[in-house]
Amino acid sequence: MADVQALVADLTLEEKCRMVVGESPWTIPGCERLGIPGWCVSDGPVGVRGRTMGPGLVVPGPSAIAATWNPALVHELGQALGTEATDRKVDMILAPTVNLHRSPRGGRHFESYSEDPELSSRIAVAYITGVQSQGVGACVKHYVANDQEFERFTINVDVDERSLREIYLPPFEAAVKEAGVRAVMAAYNFVNGHHACAQPDLLIGILKGEWGFDGFVVSDWGAIKETVAPALYGLDLEMAGPGRWWGKGQLQEAVEAGKVDESLIDDKVRRILGFLHWAGRLNTPTDHDEASIERPEHRDLARRTAAESMVLVRNQGGLLPLAGDGTVALIGAAAADTALLGGGSASLIPHRTTSVLESLGERLGPRLIGHATGLEMRRNADAVPKSWIPDGVSFELYNSIGFDGEPFETLTRPLPFNAWIGDNWPEDCDTLSVRLEFTMTPEQSGRHRLCALGFAHARLYVDGQLAADNQVDGFGAGLGLHGGHGYLHLEAGQQYHIRLDHVPRERRQWVCIVDVGVELADMDREQGLDEAAALAAQADTAVVVVGSNAEWESEGGDRDSIELPNQQDELVERVLDANPNTVVVLNCGAPMTLPWLDRAKAVLLAWYPGQEAGEAIADVLVGDADPGGRMPTSWAWREQDTPAFLNYPGEAGVVRYGEGIFVGYRWYDARDIEPMIPFGHGGSYTTFEWGQPEVSGEGTQRTVTVPVTNTGERPGSEVVQVYVSPPSSGVPRPPKELAGFAKLTLDPGETGTAAIELRERSFARWDPETHDWVVDPGQYQLVVAASATDLRSHMDIEV
Ligand code: BGC
Repeated sequence: MADVQALVADLTLEEKCRMVVGESPWTIPGCERLGIPGWCVSDGPVGVRGRTMGPGLVVPGPSAIAATWNPALVHELGQALGTEATDRKVDMILAPTVNLHRSPRGGRHFESYSEDPELSSRIAVAYITGVQSQGVGACVKHYVANDQEFERFTINVDVDERSLREIYLPPFEAAVKEAGVRAVMAAYNFVNGHHACAQPDLLIGILKGEWGFDGFVVSDWGAIKETVAPALYGLDLEMAGPGRWWGKGQLQEAVEAGKVDESLIDDKVRRILGFLHWAGRLNTPTDHDEASIERPEHRDLARRTAAESMVLVRNQGGLLPLAGDGTVALIGAAAADTALLGGGSASLIPHRTTSVLESLGERLGPRLIGHATGLEMRRNADAVPKSWIPDGVSFELYNSIGFDGEPFETLTRPLPFNAWIGDNWPEDCDTLSVRLEFTMTPEQSGRHRLCALGFAHARLYVDGQLAADNQVDGFGAGLGLHGGHGYLHLEAGQQYHIRLDHVPRERRQWVCIVDVGVELADMDREQGLDEAAALAAQADTAVVVVGSNAEWESEGGDRDSIELPNQQDELVERVLDANPNTVVVLNCGAPMTLPWLDRAKAVLLAWYPGQEAGEAIADVLVGDADPGGRMPTSWAWREQDTPAFLNYPGEAGVVRYGEGIFVGYRWYDARDIEPMIPFGHGGSYTTFEWGQPEVSGEGTQRTVTVPVTNTGERPGSEVVQVYVSPPSSGVPRPPKELAGFAKLTLDPGETGTAAIELRERSFARWDPETHDWVVDPGQYQLVVAASATDLRSHMDIEV
């Protein structure tokens, strides 16, 4: 890296300080004088938004790709996303998200892989090496313990050393040590009292010291809260640009004032240049224009991955696949408007959308006797139509929290959306409150849903009365993904005065994005349920599609409850009453309680399947593809049974990870609680027979092999899981922990051998006294299993 060292030496302090701060939300400057190109990052993780945010490939959501339990497939997916990034002139994808599934309410649950660090690590390594094989960087996020959205910018996570080492850090460690990830994103939250962007122990001690991380650490967007501490304690790049704390010469001033040593700036620049050198950008900057290319092979990959991620939770009496020539009734708003992905920075515009209604309709032809919506699924409302507001919208902008004094700017705009996004931001403005007002005249009479959206706390008043209150403000809300909502009867032709007050809760320089939505929402609930039941009763089989969408599951806010939104349970119950041959398709990213589960003959969990959602769900329903998924996370019967229940969301600004290492199935095992759907569980349309497992090797270096035969009549896949149960050593340990797994895809009659390699870490625990890993000597049990509760055999070994 002679180039890099020489460049660092040639750069002036001013140039160096400019290179460690973004210049726009997605771009980072180089140095023209020395021919160092500027570069670009983009979200992540289900696609690449690109510089223009135009349409792109949308692959299945992160929980879905973990549910494939297929690192080789995820590697291919990473390669495809790397190619997308190159098309889009993007140098680094802001992905993967490897935070853990701690509370089922977490708004970004869908955006993370699993409750298990080993499964998360395997999937993350495959994704990163896939992306990086294309010369595009990956950025693993959010370091660390960023597992909830509640108080996302300020919450202090109180987590003990052992839980960090055994549960929350391993996916990052694997990303660094095994995948050579080029960047790590430091989170919004605090960890044990230190902000995640200024962590002497976690960033300098562990990441850069112990793990030898040679890439750079970037702040989450707008995460840093001061100039000096992040510069001293591990951060290398402030984003989003223009940087609030390092920009405008502030970092340079700190160096000149002797508060930050220049050698620290050199190190930051060296890390960033090291990345550009690795990516080949230093000598050959990309010279093509951004392109949005829809590749058939990527479409096919997204579809295969989606089918391989779907979990066949139950299938009594072989109700699935929908064979023969029986008739089918399709129920649910989610069948027609099939959610592709969750909300927030992970969302992007897909190349195309597909729905279950269209795709299944094509496959079944006249066998599909009809579709009934049953219940509404939406929570938000579309923007107020322009024809309702002929006089436009007036905006008042205040440099304060609230509306003190005089506005510094007043504007009139035709529509309430994105009227002012920070152009000519005044020098002395460090926060922004917005009041917008207009008069609207609805075109139809009836019950309307009203919606208030914005980054900050947005309250919507209709004729002076509070109609919607956006308590869950933040990034997702700012993108219009969820907001405060309420219902009001509006009369056609009548004028209503609308006011939206948009007030940040703290002083911060976020761009202001606000919107007001109004939509007719007068579907009669009882009538909808009756129609659904009547249609279901007429067919041989009913397929009811329920779930969630980006309005309910998004970055920016946690969920209010883990029930299906809008009481869709009632819809499922009504369809089950009407037709015993009912298939329930669940399309969601996070755990739901399913009170009707035992009554449903067939349940297929589709996650958020990406742009090929409709096609892939149809593939599995009609049996063109085997449902290849296994649960990446345990789902509970009741929220009270979940591990973090008593320690979520925290109080007085602190969330205590009181369940410690007992996360996910570690908890259900230790407490002897039966999960509703166990970790690792999932069926197939074919059947398998497992032969006698064998173990070879010495000490902690062991290989477990299990022969598996497809005894059915269709091709299908099986996942062999190996858990390790430790000897008792006087130290609390989970009864068993996943040590490895292997997925086999077999034709009818074919036998394959699952080979699972164990390593020292498979047996180790973190010892907070010696601050090191230890392997207690003694007899360990290797448990060969098809899920955390379906244990097939075990072998004792001496270590
Ligand atoms: C999210 C990150 C994302 C960034 C840029 C943040 O709000 O937490 O995951 O990469 O925005 O969109």
